[in-house]
Amino acid sequence: MSKIIGIVSGKGGVGKTTTVANLGTIFSREYKTKTVMVDANLFTTNLGIHLGLLDPPTTLQDVLRAPNVLSIKKVVYTTVDGLQVVPCTISLSQKVKYSKIGPVLKPLREMFDLIILDSAPGLSHETEFVMKVSDQIILVTTPDLPSVTDTLKAARVTEEFKIPIIGVVVNRVQGHKHELSIQEIERTIGHKVIAVIPEDEHVREAISARKPAALHSPNCSATKAFRKLAQYLQDFESTMQPPEPRFEEVTAFSRQGFLSRLLQLLRFYR
Ligand SMILES: Nc1ncnc2c1ncn2[C@@H]1O[C@H](COP(=O)(O)OP(=O)(O)OP(=O)(O)O)[C@@H](O)[C@H]1O
Ligand SMILES: [Mg+2]
Repeated sequence: MSKIIGIVSGKGGVGKTTTVANLGTIFSREYKTKTVMVDANLFTTNLGIHLGLLDPPTTLQDVLRAPNVLSIKKVVYTTVDGLQVVPCTISLSQKVKYSKIGPVLKPLREMFDLIILDSAPGLSHETEFVMKVSDQIILVTTPDLPSVTDTLKAARVTEEFKIPIIGVVVNRVQGHKHELSIQEIERTIGHKVIAVIPEDEHVREAISARKPAALHSPNCSATKAFRKLAQYLQDFESTMQPPEPRFEEVTAFSRQGFLSRLLQLLRFYR
């Protein structure tokens, strides 16, 4: 049975697209899962850049504009690395109706076992549509307060839509004292941290080479952490039970008093 996993966050620039590109690569190349990555970040699109697909003739926006004329099946591209992707145009495009994204994505379920959706920065309507059409959500944050509090908001909106949250990916972890610890992040967002991805220069190098790190630097620390995340998701899928995440705790710095106050404030959100 096919599954749609939406990768979302309340914050921009935290590593959503990096997560999509690397998870998609690992599932496709290492697990041989029929996988497609969909760029559902319609206006500040960049999945194509991460995967080396820059100027496709037709894109998801074209399908959303004329779903009765163009099927999404016609905008599934295979990259030079053999990865399958539904891209968006990087040029500023006319308005499209996100509300059609659910029916538009449907034919992909017949073609792929795993559909991974990239989403827009922040809690826009666009992000909400990604949440609604997903079977499950993975939240991405960096280990700092603004990002974690925004991700908490994304978690609350996802919960309101009654879409299951698999867990939280904490990206760009350096192990500094000022970073929030895993326990603090879990307590704040109210969901399990399922992966800790270290800050790794290979990720930036890979993006500039227009390849996911999992292909450009298959043994770098970030790739290894993404591989553990893929294994976690695979174990989850086969047992239907959340397994124990496998990652190393990097910081243990307590700011409990401040966090409790912050949580009290955030309880009034929506
Ligand atoms: N683990 C990492 N180590 C080092 N740099 C990273 C890592 N993850 C992401 N980056 C850097 O952060 C930048 C932003 O990452 P990415 O584009 O994946 O974020 P995003 O959440 O998709 O952003 P947006 O919200 O704008 O779509 C990347 O271009 C890359 O340079
Ligand atoms: Mg992005």
